[in-house]
Amino acid sequence: MADIAVSRSEKLEKGTKITRREWLNYAWLASLGVLLADIGGIGFLFAMPRFKEGEFGGVFTLGPVSNLPPEDAPPVNNPKGMFWLVNDEKGVLALYKVCTHLGCLYGWNDQEGKFICPCHGSQFERDGTYIRGPAPRSLDRFVVQAVSPDGDVLAETDPETGEPVPIPDDPEVIVKVDTGRKILGKRRA
Ligand code: FES
Repeated sequence: MADIAVSRSEKLEKGTKITRREWLNYAWLASLGVLLADIGGIGFLFAMPRFKEGEFGGVFTLGPVSNLPPEDAPPVNNPKGMFWLVNDEKGVLALYKVCTHLGCLYGWNDQEGKFICPCHGSQFERDGTYIRGPAPRSLDRFVVQAVSPDGDVLAETDPETGEPVPIPDDPEVIVKVDTGRKILGKRRA
């Protein structure tokens, strides 16, 4: 026992020498640690929502059902969200404000009861359906969601059809528009 204690203390006094193999192992482990930290960091960044709530590209919370315009009322302009909110007998729609022709901002014409683009005259129904003009398709839409107070999605725009979403008649339900999820309008006939 005394011999072992002596040899250990001798080693400590002389300093422990690291062999080339040990050094390579340490270097390899250090590189692996850096790599894993990088991957973790990148994964974390991807997991973060890219846009904040209430900024274009993110989700807009419109509030309870009572905040919706009455059925068949003129579309409501949401400048920050870049959409027109439409409430009709079939449900709620959020129409992207950019014309499907060359990207001008079209507007609602109350007298004619339709959307008209000032650039080349494309016209669209209140629900965004193409009427006439050079636009190649109906207006694009964003996904509308009806969400319970617990955050469960009760109804959502079908990304295939883009049809209006019927909102449950419940004062607790919150309506949201996700401007990060755009559905292209149907191509005109
Ligand atoms: S950009 Fe709207 S009709 Fe041309």
